[in-house]
Amino acid sequence: MSMAAPTAVVVLDRGNNTTCTVNLHGATVVSWRVNNQEQLFVSKQALFDGKKAIRGGIPIVFPHFGPWPLGPQHGFARTSRWHLEKAPERLPSGDIEAIFVLMDSEYTHQFWKYSFRLTYRLILREKELHFNIGVYNPLGSQDTFSFTLLLHTYFKCPDVRKCQITGMHGCTFIDKTRDGAVYQEGRDVVMINEWTDRIYQNTPQEHIITNVVSGRKMRIQKFNLPDTVVWNPWEHKAKEIADFGDEEFPNMICVEAGNVSTGIILPPNTVFEASQILQVM
Ligand code: BG6
Repeated sequence: MSMAAPTAVVVLDRGNNTTCTVNLHGATVVSWRVNNQEQLFVSKQALFDGKKAIRGGIPIVFPHFGPWPLGPQHGFARTSRWHLEKAPERLPSGDIEAIFVLMDSEYTHQFWKYSFRLTYRLILREKELHFNIGVYNPLGSQDTFSFTLLLHTYFKCPDVRKCQITGMHGCTFIDKTRDGAVYQEGRDVVMINEWTDRIYQNTPQEHIITNVVSGRKMRIQKFNLPDTVVWNPWEHKAKEIADFGDEEFPNMICVEAGNVSTGIILPPNTVFEASQILQVM
């Protein structure tokens, strides 16, 4: 008798049509609904084949942000099957918690020889989603390793041209659309009117994005994640992305909290922790 395949999706359900859905492929948050209103963008062309990274939601970038000589772009965490360590459970506060884990495996050793353990704890609150990430270099491992890390959040919006992002004023940024030239942001709020791919460095703990779904604001708070990537492929680049619809670019804004400018060095038997809180305002 064959065993049924374990379900690939885990749902945190807080009641009142407030849910968070996590695909074990990449531990990718693929939906976050607050009072039935979806907050995240997932492309209509996204593939759920258990191989490709899911185009939308919140893929986890680890252990390498960007093109990687050793393995796939943005690392292997988003293309690995994660393990559900703690099934969704209601906390005394009424909030729902679940924990996901990724450990090194034959799959990860193809690209990266290190032993590691990644924990991803989600807490779904009434209007918030909390993320806690732990990167462990286990006791008994011989090697120090270095990594970069990022939460590649795709927010849903009716029209990206109407969104404003606060918190970048005065920050330096690497502009990937201009061969990595470095500039300083002079605007109080960042707006997007063209292909945008920037790594803002040493950004403050908080950003607010205006005019996301239902014309509301989204607050991003981040801890131990000093960089903020802002990305939208716009019309031309969108056409080059197979799993992204040609007409979809106005409906998403990627504001990605990470530690990507400099690698984090982690000796054996140490841990790196970071977190993010998303809040519908
Ligand atoms: C962003 C990068 O974080 O992710 C962009 O800054 C990249 O350069 C984008 O194009 C999407 O990457 P991918 O691998 O999911 O197509």
